[in-house]
Amino acid sequence: MFLNCMKRKSFSSSILCLVVLSVQLATIQPGYSETPPTVQEKPAYQNAVVAADHPLASAAGVSILKAGGNVVDAAVATSFALSVLRPASCGLGGGGFMVIWDAEQQKSTVIDYRERAPAAATPEMYAKLPGTDKQRQLASRQGPLAVAVPCTVAGLCYAVKEYGTLDLKTVMQPAILMARRGVPINGHMRSVQSSMLKRIKNGTLDPDRFQTLIDEYLNHGKPWSEKDRFFSPQLKALELIAEKGHAGFYEGPVADAIIATCGKQSGGILTHKDLIETQPVIRKPLSTTFNGYTIITMPPPSSGGIAIIESFNMIHSLEKQLLNQPFGKMEYHSPQQIHLLVEVMKHAFADRAEYLGDADFVPVPIQRLTDKKYADRLASRIDSKKTKALKDYGRYLPPQDAGTSHFSVMDSAGNAVACTETINLTFGSYVVVPKYGIVLNNEMDDFAAISGKPNAFGLIQGKANEIEPGKKPLSSMSPTIAVKDGKAVFSAGASGGPRIISSTLQVLLNMIVFGMNPEQAVESPRIHHQWVPEDLLIENKLFEQVGGKLKQLGHVPKKSSSLAATQAVSRQPDGLRGHSDSRKHGAAAGY
Ligand code: DON
Repeated sequence: MFLNCMKRKSFSSSILCLVVLSVQLATIQPGYSETPPTVQEKPAYQNAVVAADHPLASAAGVSILKAGGNVVDAAVATSFALSVLRPASCGLGGGGFMVIWDAEQQKSTVIDYRERAPAAATPEMYAKLPGTDKQRQLASRQGPLAVAVPCTVAGLCYAVKEYGTLDLKTVMQPAILMARRGVPINGHMRSVQSSMLKRIKNGTLDPDRFQTLIDEYLNHGKPWSEKDRFFSPQLKALELIAEKGHAGFYEGPVADAIIATCGKQSGGILTHKDLIETQPVIRKPLSTTFNGYTIITMPPPSSGGIAIIESFNMIHSLEKQLLNQPFGKMEYHSPQQIHLLVEVMKHAFADRAEYLGDADFVPVPIQRLTDKKYADRLASRIDSKKTKALKDYGRYLPPQDAGTSHFSVMDSAGNAVACTETINLTFGSYVVVPKYGIVLNNEMDDFAAISGKPNAFGLIQGKANEIEPGKKPLSSMSPTIAVKDGKAVFSAGASGGPRIISSTLQVLLNMIVFGMNPEQAVESPRIHHQWVPEDLLIENKLFEQVGGKLKQLGHVPKKSSSLAATQAVSRQPDGLRGHSDSRKHGAAAGY
């Protein structure tokens, strides 16, 4: 397999690797620029490409590929680097999904390292809390009770051991060097800090309760200047993981510190047993065929994979039933093309609300939802002239009443990784583990935390996504790879809650159907509809062009400044190209 060539590295070559990495990082950092990438044709890379949402994370992955690692080694290195570089979005205290295409074996694998509800969690744990409605709702978003059992470290250790060719210490080296030397503060970090400081002022972030977050990640409350460097407080945790692997995080002093922060004595429910038992799950990927490509994506507990497959299938049905021509022949971003895409999204999101949850706990009709005949039936209900009432999508009627990071890796042999990781909302639960700097997720809010109430993303969630001990909350993360003739051709994914699904779908359509390169596909303005609420979000520039016309088709168009952040790579006739969304100040790298 593509993995075995470097499995047993000699000590001297490992040292050489570290030296190479140090030199590369030393030369990469001064070259860092905060100018967003422009949309223009750049030379293609001939060996490999990594597109992450921070330029140094892309560079970390590339340095590992150059040092002889494979795409999985590069993905793990990129992910650990993102723990340091994007602590508001993902990291050691969170979870994620990794989709791998192995061109030599012609095999896809998905690693599910989504967090689980602690063993002591119950469906009523938030609804039964004393206090006001607002306080109950906040409990699944801020503080120890919001924390689901972190799984990222378990997932990454497993990925490198089973599918990598280098050792954990080597692939963690870029992240450790960044934590040790500090990293420049970029535009995204400054804007995250400024919005967090606003939250302190407007009373939505209690400084007494979340002092560690403010001290360790928000520069003690003092605005960052461009000249500042950020020294990750996770250095000790990273070193322990590099030395001891899984046990460096889930046992010993790091585990003790996590439990002291969100175990019983601190008002949480996490236990040592929850941590020790944490392992990733290898699942069967979902796939469909579309326009000659095999689309490979995440099964539950992701809702994104099913929604994306349903959408591709419905688009194919519309081509047959309504358009009598390929979807790609429609005028790009014409009101009619957007209308049809929105109708597709509304059906997919309505099904998400009713049927989707952790398939290990509730029956999820995966086969039926991803069947092309089912898509034919949904597509036949789409009216090309007008949008419909909520009840006309799915069967479920709602009751009465941006912390994530995606990266894609691809090499010239046709291997690829699509990986999305999250701690849920910006800085997760706001709980930071003292001494080790781990930002703990608030993934419990991805469950239907209080029955009938929308979550932080306004998503209405069905019974299938109710809390149960050990269950995984439903996710929108949708890392996806498209394969043709045995080689990965496109890899994409996004951050942005439910907008992950709609933006991943649009970026893939832009590349597959409208023939765009990753830069154009990612930078092109986007739309989003999640069935409930009825708003059709449209990015500014496009809103001016099509908002009025879409209103006439019965939609409720709303202007939106930025919809999700996507990273995409593709194999093109002249080589590999990648692009990281300027919406999140990323940059791709390759060689
Ligand atoms: O898994 C999910 O669907 C959410 N936890 C993702 C949250 C997210 O993307 C926040 N945004 N940038």
